[in-house]
Order: sequence, then C-alpha cells, then structure tokens
Amino acid sequence: MNRAAITGWGAAMPPAVLTNADLSTFLDTTDEWITTRTGMQERRISHVSATEMATLAARRALACARLDPGDLELIVYGSCSNDEQVPNSASAVQARIGSARAASVDLNTACTSFLYGLSAASGMIRAGSVRNALVIGVELISPYMDWENRNVAVLFGDGCAAVVLQATDREEGLLGDDLGCIADARAALRVRGMGCAYANRGIVFGDTAWDFDGQEIFRRAVQGMTRASAAVLQKCGVTPEQIDLVVPHQANLRIIEAVVTRTGIPMEKVMLTVQRYGNMSAATVPVALTEAVAEGRVKPGSFILMPAFGAGLTMCAHLVRWGDRVAPLATIEDGLPPCTKTALEMVNDVRALKAGARERSGAGLQPPALAGGG
Ligand code: ACO
Repeated sequence: MNRAAITGWGAAMPPAVLTNADLSTFLDTTDEWITTRTGMQERRISHVSATEMATLAARRALACARLDPGDLELIVYGSCSNDEQVPNSASAVQARIGSARAASVDLNTACTSFLYGLSAASGMIRAGSVRNALVIGVELISPYMDWENRNVAVLFGDGCAAVVLQATDREEGLLGDDLGCIADARAALRVRGMGCAYANRGIVFGDTAWDFDGQEIFRRAVQGMTRASAAVLQKCGVTPEQIDLVVPHQANLRIIEAVVTRTGIPMEKVMLTVQRYGNMSAATVPVALTEAVAEGRVKPGSFILMPAFGAGLTMCAHLVRWGDRVAPLATIEDGLPPCTKTALEMVNDVRALKAGARERSGAGLQPPALAGGG
C-alpha cells in the first residue's frame, strides 16, 4: 500500500524576539513566573504576514525534497490565524510558489492543525487522490492577542514550518494516528472577536478577548495527549522503548513532562523549543521537527511520536517513521525581508491600534460572551 514519506522540510521563523523582560514592561508579570510555570523564555513576533512566512517555508521544503512546485498536487494550510477568510490562505501560497496544479485547502483545528493536515494529506496520498502534498503549520497570533491579559499574552508566539509528502511503497511516513475532540471543554479556550458571531455586538472587528481556563486546559491536555499516545502506539504495535524522538506540541514544559512521563518515555528523547518560541499553535510541531532534523536528532528510520492538543479541545498523537535521508537535497538562499522594528515595538503598535480603535468606537474592553458554552 502507498504511504506518504516525508521528503522535504523547511521553517520560516521571524527574527524579532520578545523576551519575558519585554512582557514585564507592560504586564504585571515576571521572568521568574513565566519560566517556572511554562518553561518559556522567548517567543517570536512576525513583521510579515502568515502567508509570507508560509511561502518561504514552502519553498524551503520543496527545495529540500527537490520537488518542482509545478508538480505539487495538494497544499494543506494548517492555521487558526488566517490573513483573511476569503479567499483562503492555501491559495495565496499556491499563487506565490507557482504550483498551479495544486488543490489548496485551509484546515483549522487550532494547535493540532498541522497534524490533522498530516493525517488528511497522507490519507489522500494513500487513497491515490494525489501523489504528493505540502503540509504547512503556520500561526500569526500576535495581531489577535489580547496583550493586556497576562493569562494568555505570555504564552504565544508566531512562526511557521512545512513538510513535503510523497507517495512511497516503503514502510515510512505516517504509520498511524489517533485523533479526537473533547468538545464539552470547548469553552475552556475561546478567542472572542475572531468570527462573525460577534458582529453587531459592540466590538471592534479584529479586537479580541480570550476566554482561557488554563488549569482546565492543562488537565485535559495531559489526559488527552497521554491517551492518544498510548492508542497510536498500540495501533501500530510499537512500544514506548522503541520511540527514538518525541516532537510534542509546545504549550507548556510541564504539560510535556507529564505526558512523556506517563507514556513511559524519558525527557532526553523529547525535542523542546518551548523555551525559545513559546506556543506557536499549529507551527510548534513542524518547527520542532525541522529543527530536530537540522540538529541531527532525527536518524534514518527513527520512530517519532508527535502528541498535540488545541482549542476545541482537539487532541491527537501521530507516529511517523523517518526515511533514509536526513539532509536536504537542495536549499534556497532567500529569507524573510529585513525587520526594522523590535518585537516589543511591534507589540506596542498592536496595543496602541486596539486601544485607539476601542476609544473611537466607544466599545468596551471585553467583547460580550456568546450565550452558553457551546
Ligand atoms: N504572570 C504572573 N502571574 C500570573 C500570570 C502571569 N503571566 N498569569 C497568571 N498569573 C497568576 C494568576 O492570576 C494566578 O493568580 P491568583 O492565584 O492570585 O489568582 C496565579 O498566577 C496562578 O495561576 P494558575 O492558573 O494557578 O497557574 P498555573 O500554574 O496553572 O499556570 C498556565 C498557568 C501556565 C496558563 C497553565 O495553566 C497552562 O499552561 N495551561 C495550559 C495552557 C495552554 O496550553 N494553552 C494553549 C492551549 S491550546 C493551544 O495551544 C491553542
């Protein structure tokens, strides 16, 4: 049976770094609180659009696989922070990389969007619908962040990475997955102001207020990712001892430690980026995977476990077997355009914009809640 081998990988990380000290210039927080509760020290703030990050990551991944963009058959764009809703974002990437033949779809399951996209694209390759695919995990959260809310503002960052999948008869690529959604907890994480449900409710379009029950998400995330990890290992007949590397969603160091300990895998086998990038939602797993390959932590034939959770609350765990190649076939020279502002300056620009818009409209700080938790 066809499988979908990962043959290309590439990231596009914005250069501007927002430190814990930067955050404490406008929030009642400290480096000590953020580091001990989350493991995070820094995150990135993007000066370019999400689709611009995605375009660079896509071009790097295609070069890595030496796949001509004109031969690409599917683009899956995993994100919950799109530049615009219509037209979709995958079509923007398609146009910019010159993949005129590629079917182009956006997929949003919040932080699990990249991994759900990996399942969807691998399934289409196995079914014979397409022979190859580009799966992107990208997030531009900074414009949507409620920067006045310390409960959430310290946790998130921007970033992007992508992988290329190609049909193979070899036993590699996605070996199995376990997907789920704990919808009774969907009210635990809601960004009010990101959809038309809020129209005519007295809020400034694009302004947001985050409903965020951190402890509830923490508890459900640990339970859900541990259960999904056990399920996918059991489905594939692979033991925790056989896992060479864990590339988990990076929402909180303590969540990751709890999940791998319960799964029976030592922390030395875990790829961590949470200290440097915070939670980039859909981008965390592909960025960590790309960096793990670059650091030599992915070996030919490695078994890689990738557990994740996101708003919804969506849950999953994926088991991938890496192929023979751990080096790119080609690279490109291009990067993102130079960034002329510091991360803190960009964040303060967003804060000023939102404060000004609220003042002009007379709207309150908090968008009204949707009725009920559903
Ligand atoms: N700085 C200082 N104090 C803070 C901050 C901050 N940035 N944020 C909260 N606090 C305060 C709280 O107000 C609270 O004060 P109180 O006791 O006076 O009420 C105190 O710190 C303790 O808060 P807790 O909620 O008990 O802290 P906890 O140890 O649970 O850590 C955290 C909070 C980090 C949010 C944790 O619950 C967590 O990581 N949850 C999961 C978050 C997550 O994964 N989010 C993403 C989910 S989905 C996705 O990825 C899109």
